[in-house]
Amino acid sequence: MNVTWVLGYPTGHEQGSFLTVDLGGTNLRVCYITLPGSRDKEFEVDQQKYKLPNEIKSGTAEQLWDFLSDCLQKFVEEKGLKGTKKEPIYLGFTFSYPALQEYIDHGILQTWTKGFDIKGVEGENAAGQLQEALDKRQLPIKMIALINDTTGAMIASAYKDPKTIMGVIFGTGCNGAYMEQCGKITKLKDSGLPSDTLMAINCEYGAFDNARRVLPLTPYDEAVDRDSPRPGEQAWEKMSAGLYLGEIFRLVLVDLAEKGLVFKDQDTTKLREAYALDTGALSAIEDDESPKLSETRTLFKDVLSLDITEPELELCRRLAELIAVRGARLCACGVAAICSRNQISSGHVAADGSVANKHPKFKRRWGKALGELLDWPKDQGEDPVVLTSAEDGSGIGAAVIAAMTLERAEKGQRAGIRSF
Ligand code: BGC
Repeated sequence: MNVTWVLGYPTGHEQGSFLTVDLGGTNLRVCYITLPGSRDKEFEVDQQKYKLPNEIKSGTAEQLWDFLSDCLQKFVEEKGLKGTKKEPIYLGFTFSYPALQEYIDHGILQTWTKGFDIKGVEGENAAGQLQEALDKRQLPIKMIALINDTTGAMIASAYKDPKTIMGVIFGTGCNGAYMEQCGKITKLKDSGLPSDTLMAINCEYGAFDNARRVLPLTPYDEAVDRDSPRPGEQAWEKMSAGLYLGEIFRLVLVDLAEKGLVFKDQDTTKLREAYALDTGALSAIEDDESPKLSETRTLFKDVLSLDITEPELELCRRLAELIAVRGARLCACGVAAICSRNQISSGHVAADGSVANKHPKFKRRWGKALGELLDWPKDQGEDPVVLTSAEDGSGIGAAVIAAMTLERAEKGQRAGIRSF
């Protein structure tokens, strides 16, 4: 669990315009966001997406930061944004990987996750590396906050919705953030911060049970882990996140095909390609309401060049369901753990990510599991803890956190702020 130096919830009155950059799984998103300064008004968001070239994901630190500063430079020039050394354009950097933060404008990458394997960043200060690359180009941009996407989701939602209790991502990766009192954070015992000050905690519970003592793993989970760039890491995430659900499904089918139980006498070359099926395929299979599952039949033909029989269709449907139900129930465990620990009995969990937003049955399964874990009475009507759709955390969240940080710095409240 990592401290984030995001101190407390926003008031909803934060103002100003900020540049944000989000290093996600497939895209790089740059935004210029104006905060309205009021809960009832809308955010202004000007944004641009840049495709993250695949080579970068397994390239070097220099290539990564060059690419980021290139996109930022293009964006700033196209939008005519101006800054000077004295009055720079302030940047919030959403870096959705586990980072140890001694300050809010600092973050040592502990390990890459979600299939990334870039040399020269692990163990280093990612925030500093980005700032150096920007300075090399003499761009008038000052990075003032490195944030996790979960913290971003929580803060962006809390700007508008005071009932927000957590920010979670159920997407390519899985994780959650919540607010804790500094007095309860052992890592901060020498910080001098008042014990009732709130600090956002990035749980990084994707790494829960890396020691593999609790989670019941199948041989398919073990294979996903073994063949990943970081075996041993992110045990829980590899069973519940969007990047892996389609792969688990594929590995089960390969096993059944090898045992001669499915796709007999067919060419299974495409099925044997790692990550040939993504989680979108699992959603599509579970969502298929066509007569005799003809859409799933077409999917198997188009993506894997396989002719699928009726019993095989039924099997695939059931398998997709099993994998997705397990994932949703695990996602409920992370939230239930925080609710139990802090005796939270009601509120909104702001969720973002493709699994939360696009899987047809995820929310219902998640809610049911949470009710079981927290012992909600069966006949109580509306659930007390509900999943809400997070306001764009990686953009708006980064901008709100940048505004909160600037405000603190201007008031001389510099705990956890290093460089400006
Ligand atoms: C990362 C987290 C991130 C999550 C969701 C995980 O792989 O370790 O930092 O919040 O993915 O993007």
